[in-house]
Amino acid sequence: MAIAIEPTTTVRDLVLKHPETRQALESLGIDYCCGGGRSLAEAAAAAGIDLTAVAKAVQQAADDANLASDAPERDWRQASLTELANHIEGTHHVFMKQALPRLDDLFAKVLSAHGARHGDMLASLRTTFQSLRSEIEMHLLKEEQVLFPYIRQMEAEMAQTGQIPPMHCGTAANPIRQMEAEHERAGAALMQMRSVTDDYALPADACSTFSALFEGLAEMEADLHEHIHLENNILFPRAMALESRE
Ligand SMILES: [Fe+2]
Ligand SMILES: [Fe+2]
Repeated sequence: MAIAIEPTTTVRDLVLKHPETRQALESLGIDYCCGGGRSLAEAAAAAGIDLTAVAKAVQQAADDANLASDAPERDWRQASLTELANHIEGTHHVFMKQALPRLDDLFAKVLSAHGARHGDMLASLRTTFQSLRSEIEMHLLKEEQVLFPYIRQMEAEMAQTGQIPPMHCGTAANPIRQMEAEHERAGAALMQMRSVTDDYALPADACSTFSALFEGLAEMEADLHEHIHLENNILFPRAMALESRE
């Protein structure tokens, strides 16, 4: 299927319609979660890539997905909010809770073996990682204990009674705005980590633990981008639309 790419198409709209192109955008360094509202032309310019090259990579990704025998990616725009919140918690929250402590352990090992030669870069990378870790851990708790239960409750009560249940934070839009601001900060931390490591380029003397650390950080980045995309571009706008429909 030919994907229509107009310079004015937003990155968000492309990924919502064609989730199979996410990986290609990730590899091109195009931000589709926090910066998803930008047009493809702006996003390509920001990543220093020609729009034609972006269109080609995106089309290739869609063709590859068509040829592959795997089931097509789920279109989360069609799922219930409860299903989507459960999916985010069950996959992306679980991923982060496993990855963050594992990466912290790898940092300690890599610093003790390579601190003498790469100490400045590693120390700066670890500082950014640790502040990202502590903010994300709190963030996951706030979503799991406050926002997601409210979204599930709102959906259930709307279906049964047509009424929006009371929210102790005023409206869901308040915690959502806070979550979005935290996503922006996490996105900035990921960019900072990419910049300090020169796009996770391994030094010539890197050992296997060093490469496991960089691979793990890049995997965490890709997972967090997908996670933030599902919240910022699908779950949160749909929850706010439901709330204002009363
Ligand atoms: Fe989340
Ligand atoms: Fe979040």
